[in-house]
Amino acid sequence: MSSFYVTTPIYYVNDLPHIGHVYTTVVADTVARYRRMHGDEVYFSTGTDEHGVNILRIADKKGITPQAQADSVVSRYHDLWKQVGISHDDFIRTTEPRHHRAVAEIVRRIEAQGDLYVAKHEGWYCASCETFYTEKEIGPEKTCPVHESATEWQSEENIFFRLSKYQDRLLAWYAQPGTVQPESRRNEVTSFVESGLRDISVSRAGLPWGVSFPGHHDQTVYVWLEALTNYLSVLGFGGDDRDAALYERFWASEGGRRVHLVGKDILRFHAVYWPAFLMSAGLPLPTTVYAHGWWLRDAKKVSKSVGNIVQLDELFAHFGVDPVRYFLLREMAFGQDASFSDEAFVDRFNSDLANDLGNTVSRLVKLSDKAFGGKTPPESCSNNAVKDTAEEAIPEYLAAMEGYAFHDALRSLWKILAEVNQYLVAREPWKALKAGEVDDRVSRVLWNGLEGVRLVATGLLPFMPKLAARVLRAVGADPEQADASTLSWGRLPLSAELPAKETLFPRIDKAAFLAGKLEVPPAAGDATTEEESNMISIEEFFKTELRVATVIEAERIPKSKKLLKLGVEMGEEKRTVVAGIAEAYEPDDLVGKQVVIVANLQPAKLMGVESQGMVLAASLDGRPVLLHPSADVPSGTPVK
Ligand code: ME8
Ligand code: MG
Repeated sequence: MSSFYVTTPIYYVNDLPHIGHVYTTVVADTVARYRRMHGDEVYFSTGTDEHGVNILRIADKKGITPQAQADSVVSRYHDLWKQVGISHDDFIRTTEPRHHRAVAEIVRRIEAQGDLYVAKHEGWYCASCETFYTEKEIGPEKTCPVHESATEWQSEENIFFRLSKYQDRLLAWYAQPGTVQPESRRNEVTSFVESGLRDISVSRAGLPWGVSFPGHHDQTVYVWLEALTNYLSVLGFGGDDRDAALYERFWASEGGRRVHLVGKDILRFHAVYWPAFLMSAGLPLPTTVYAHGWWLRDAKKVSKSVGNIVQLDELFAHFGVDPVRYFLLREMAFGQDASFSDEAFVDRFNSDLANDLGNTVSRLVKLSDKAFGGKTPPESCSNNAVKDTAEEAIPEYLAAMEGYAFHDALRSLWKILAEVNQYLVAREPWKALKAGEVDDRVSRVLWNGLEGVRLVATGLLPFMPKLAARVLRAVGADPEQADASTLSWGRLPLSAELPAKETLFPRIDKAAFLAGKLEVPPAAGDATTEEESNMISIEEFFKTELRVATVIEAERIPKSKKLLKLGVEMGEEKRTVVAGIAEAYEPDDLVGKQVVIVANLQPAKLMGVESQGMVLAASLDGRPVLLHPSADVPSGTPVK
């Protein structure tokens, strides 16, 4: 059994996850599931990058500790990965002791190699990238080429790593097939390294939030050297022998594969710095660094700092999680950039999933159900057009999966669906059925169609684990038995019980969706009905926008015993809020007080006054007790 280690970048905790983070993680999950289906021993890790200037600044701004900031974002990541069906084996946080141990060990090895020295360091720094840029890269405006925000001049004494020493060895590594992918990225790093490498600083002075540099306690380890080492820490590197068993299995074993999936924004760190650090430390290199493209919206990289976030929660609610996974892998040619739009999303959902897959399944199941009394057909067939197409498409699918061409792999599966449809239209089994002529021919035709769908669904398991399993069950196959060996013609059981019919992919009203007028269906797409309860998901909770507001005026509403009219200020914005607190509070006592309001409530008229929000209060035997933040915060501050 060969070992296969796949990683995602560890994500920063300065902001909540967005489509880009979901994307790389879904890709890694798809790869991991695919390799498991092939019997590989897989280890899949993801995690969070919690140190650095940027996180410190965000925490300071919010008046919380960086650890508290990290904890809250990490819990979002845990919830999200559960929701999205991510099958990672471990989640590493760079604030964990096991990570500190691994960093100390790699630094010790690099130092023992004689690759570290102390020198003065100056340059233009982007805190969001945690990196220095050259004058050429930042142009006359001195702005970060990634974030388009101002870079800052930094000058300090640091510890340097002899990166220049590894130039030739890096070039030799790129020359080996498959190391840096896709080809365009390999060319990019090759010419970057050919143009000459300068030594890099691997420490920062006076940064209190990081791993302290072994032997230089006034310095912390440069966040990128630190963060990259997560790929070893999660395997127990630097711990005792028992901890390091995973390291031996997944990093040091002969013939094992070690694949880092990253976005092209962090190619240089993974394809230049990281292999050089590993060479210096005398450790094996990754077998593949794959840098994919960016999701764009309005021609810009989707990013929290740019502010063009795609609302995934809404897509999850309307379509379910698996269709989003499908879209991400189908729409982007892996390696290139792709644009996100709601319209492209609905179109793909309706045409690929609701129509090509959903309708084909439901038509076949209905016919078989009718013809064979709720069972799959009794007669199979090994010589037909669907089989021929499948036997071409499946090797294509497998080759595309091996080559990280997920969009092509899906396209190959869809060739089978197209053939099934054509085949059915040409054979018209419904006519025979109507005429009451259910014979061997009908059995074979329907069996071929169902078998085609079974193969498609088997190939889809790594992409849409829940929905593909439901499709398999719907056609009478057992998802538990599905693996690479069942990706061949002839496995659909004969005369097997078909389960109760269900709509797998309800078509979405595009116009209504785009106008934001679509009702959220009770069990859309792959939403699980088993987990019904009165609990709401964190996504549902976060639909409620809570903010701190400062009361600037308050008065009684004439003829009302209960209602006060409050003028509140939230940042720049002023609003009127009607609150049922007149029996418990005097208007004058409220002016200047901070309250918490629901800021995205639909306005409503109360006693002729429009209320643009709702004030939160504890309800003590019906008497309201207002909620205030425990310390003054700027008005408008979000409450989460
Ligand atoms: O860079 N399109 O973390 P990060 C596609 N902590 N993928 C995107 C994307 C987009 N618009 N935006 C983000 C860091 N990503 C470091 C990594 S690893 C040792 C340290 C994905 O939170 C993509 O994988 O900025 C990208 O490389 C990663 O998120 C950056 O996440
Ligand atoms: Mg980033």
